Amino acid sequence: MTSKTSSGRRVVVLTGASSGIGLATARELAGRGHALVLAARREDQLTALARELDPSGSRVIAVPTDVTDAASRRALIEAAHAQFGRIDVLINNAGVTVERGWWWDDSDPLRVIRVNLEAPIELVRLVLPQMRSRGSGHIVNIGSVAGRAATNGMYSASKFGIRGFSLGLRRELLGSGVDVSLVSPGFVKSEMTARARLPMPGPEVVARAVAGVLERPRREVTVPGIYRAVALLNGLLPGLADRLVRRVVIARRYGSQ
Ligand SMILES: NC(=O)c1ccc[n+]([C@@H]2O[C@H](COP(=O)([O-])OP(=O)(O)OC[C@H]3O[C@@H](n4cnc5c(N)ncnc54)[C@H](OP(=O)(O)O)[C@@H]3O)[C@@H](O)[C@H]2O)c1
Repeated sequence: MTSKTSSGRRVVVLTGASSGIGLATARELAGRGHALVLAARREDQLTALARELDPSGSRVIAVPTDVTDAASRRALIEAAHAQFGRIDVLINNAGVTVERGWWWDDSDPLRVIRVNLEAPIELVRLVLPQMRSRGSGHIVNIGSVAGRAATNGMYSASKFGIRGFSLGLRRELLGSGVDVSLVSPGFVKSEMTARARLPMPGPEVVARAVAGVLERPRREVTVPGIYRAVALLNGLLPGLADRLVRRVVIARRYGSQ
């Protein structure tokens, strides 16, 4: 069960808040009155967003963070405690993919695993002791439909990984008072999908789903809902899914090889 502050609002640490789904989520949660600790590397965007959401600087703070760096992660959690005295919710949203071409041609493809999988696990390790001893808290991981129906091998490795981590952690923590929710988006407009030639809604649809799980924790929410059919098709007819995903997603998203 997720606890609330005395005003009924939660203290939320949100990674990847400088653009796309994270930025939309920051706006959505600030609008609902939650206290926010915004994290990402681009300091200018982050600071401007914090100022836009809370000119007083007391309810929304920006903490420039590289989630792949252990000292930076620790500094983020310390800054949240210094400002608010507790963390009710950790939203692991920061994510990357191999933007151009095949992952095996990229000079450092494993950064995808470091940002999308290793960093969330390490951040959970930092917040969990306090949440468990308090008997309340909520971990929200942003997965992907690519964690159910594989696309780019490196990206899907990270998203199948975060999905397994989320579902397993949820079971490990049952009865502890700490909730674990997974939000799995399909394609939505953001910097990550700027080159994708596919029909996509804006990131606000995911932001609303994240706000929804804060009210009612869920094992997994897939947004937009139509992507549940993609996951179902993938499970029932994997051979057909191989050909469709190759033709419709991989070729259009990652190149035409
Ligand atoms: N857009 C989609 O269609 C889609 C679909 C399924 C899942 N997702 C997932 O949704 C999440 C958000 O992606 P998005 O679509 O909103 O993409 P985006 O606009 O590119 O945003 C990615 C965010 O992650 C941050 N980030 C990247 N590397 C970081 C690092 N080392 N340290 C801290 N922050 C870092 C970026 O900030 P800085 O560059 O400032 O650090 C940025 O705020 C990701 O986990 C992604 O995998 C997206």
